[in-house]
Amino acid sequence: MKLLVVGSGGREHAIAKKLLESPQVEQVFVAPGNDGMTFDGLKLVPIGISEHAALIDFVKENDIAWTFIGPDDALAAGIVDDFEAAGLKAFGPTRLAAELEWSKDFAKSIMKKYGVPTARYETFSDFEAAKAYIEKEGAPIVVKADGLALGKGVVVAETVEEAIEAAHEMLLDNKFGDSGARVVIEEFLEGEEFSLFAFVNSDKFYIMPIAQDHKRAYDGDKGPNTGGMGAYAPVPHLPASVVETAVDTIVKPVLEGMIKEGRPYIGVLYAGLILTADGPKVIEFNARFGDPETQVILSRLTSDFAQNIADILEGKEPDMTWANSGVTLGVVVASEGYPLDYEKGVVLPEKTDGDIITYYAGAKFGENGKALLSNGGRVYMLVTTSDSVSAAQEKIYTQLDKQDKTGLFYRTDIGSKALEK
Ligand code: AMP
Ligand code: GLY
Repeated sequence: MKLLVVGSGGREHAIAKKLLESPQVEQVFVAPGNDGMTFDGLKLVPIGISEHAALIDFVKENDIAWTFIGPDDALAAGIVDDFEAAGLKAFGPTRLAAELEWSKDFAKSIMKKYGVPTARYETFSDFEAAKAYIEKEGAPIVVKADGLALGKGVVVAETVEEAIEAAHEMLLDNKFGDSGARVVIEEFLEGEEFSLFAFVNSDKFYIMPIAQDHKRAYDGDKGPNTGGMGAYAPVPHLPASVVETAVDTIVKPVLEGMIKEGRPYIGVLYAGLILTADGPKVIEFNARFGDPETQVILSRLTSDFAQNIADILEGKEPDMTWANSGVTLGVVVASEGYPLDYEKGVVLPEKTDGDIITYYAGAKFGENGKALLSNGGRVYMLVTTSDSVSAAQEKIYTQLDKQDKTGLFYRTDIGSKALEK
């Protein structure tokens, strides 16, 4: 069987590599992928994620059994709808089901309608009304652009002035274009964050081990928000009862709600949650796998991933199994300056072998075709599994110590929150 993965980051590297491990899979293509993936035998296809017609032609010409869609913008652009219209199978939500991610106002209204615990909120397109609401509610308060904004559309404001400025930038200064033409203003929630993922086909869903991301650029959760600087799974200090509560109060009702709305959900559902004093509440939904959570979570899957997804696509029960001991932890290496301006073209260290896996994101062969060079903000990630968080940290950081870090940086405290508990 031949498969296609759409996307180019570390997340897609992990998805494609895991699919290729299946004995039934002879070839995994990635469109457009990145050069680092070729070390793992993945085949790159030079077609962009928005070129739906070209992707569909490729799938037909190459006898691809089905396609796994990685990124949110492809889903928001209706790639699954276009594949289905062409009679092809793609794992991911339709444009209307993915609205859970591409409109925060839609996600909030679904949560309100179906009683899913989340921060109290109101949505505004008029600046004066938003300003009056912020003044009435007081700070801290959270201002969010309604649409996709590359993870930058959320301002957690400590003061009323900061919140008003954020609303001004989004509603009047067009900082995020159409994505910020409406803003969701919501209550600040306090607690520990974690990511809960499920493979979904309509009313059937299969929960994965929970993970914790590290969104800030620097140690101690300092610095600007990024796509994610490292992750680990499971989260040893969060009890199973929290996950059960989240499944019952969040995952089940939202999936039932989507069916009632005529938008049955198929694909990976990503619930960004916060454990408050009143139990888990939703910070956001995403309609796809997380990056870097995927790289650690899929390392723990012990069953045949390609068979599992094929079964879920057909509405059958997948025989899905996970490692039941130890912790998987990964650290992202990024270009100095990320998430703001950074240089490209730094020579990257050799790929690790053995029990530390290297997943590539912004990586590209140089002109001579030999050296792998940095080509993006997040460049690569090292992932390992060990008995404990501290043992996994020890392994990863010992390896990173040996690597040349010129022009690159990483956080030195991934997973440390688990050690404080
Ligand atoms: P998002 O892009 O929605 O994941 O938000 C980025 C980050 O903002 C989250 O990871 C949280 O740390 C923070 N955040 C978002 N909404 C809230 C909220 N209602 N209360 C507290 N923190 C929040
Ligand atoms: N890990 C954050 C994200 O994928 O959105």
